[in-house]
Amino acid sequence: MAFSIPPLPYGYDGLVAKGLSKEQLTYHFDKHHQGYVVKLNAAAATNEALAKKSIEEIIGTEKGPIFNLAAQIFNHTFFWNSLSPNGGGEPKGKIGDAINASFGSFDKFKDEFTNAAVGHFGSGWAWLVKDGNNNLKVYQSHDAATPLTEGLKPILTCDVWEHAYYVDYRNDRAAYIKTFWNAVNWEFAESNL
Ligand SMILES: [Fe+2]
Repeated sequence: MAFSIPPLPYGYDGLVAKGLSKEQLTYHFDKHHQGYVVKLNAAAATNEALAKKSIEEIIGTEKGPIFNLAAQIFNHTFFWNSLSPNGGGEPKGKIGDAINASFGSFDKFKDEFTNAAVGHFGSGWAWLVKDGNNNLKVYQSHDAATPLTEGLKPILTCDVWEHAYYVDYRNDRAAYIKTFWNAVNWEFAESNL
């Protein structure tokens, strides 16, 4: 198979204490994230040029359904790394300083990101990104869209597709976003600065 994804960094039950059940993560990882990999591999089986590209190269060169599959593969791996069993709380060190410098305070950033995530219309992603001037910004992408194609460096993301929270929270996206803050991985965010 041309494409594969790493397993969940904390297993299917690694975020239970943070508010995401084993059933939720199993569905999300096995049926959705892995589902995109199965479909991209099926396309690559009859397309040698596609099979030779990296996920990032596909994102940079393809459009339509093939772009969507690769971007969703990238976005989900980035999302799993944005959460941690040891996550949550307020950012310290370099990532805390960078957020304060760009947003004024952690609370202002948290409000802006929460509004982007809860208020996102339809399926997509809320991101913390770094622009070409080294400023951090909150960014929304729709469906499979990813900041990689916009010259923006992803720092953190929250999946706001319904499939990310429906098992545990039904239609209550706001409750799911509280869980995101409870598990957010600041070490990963800092490593992306
Ligand atoms: Fe998802």
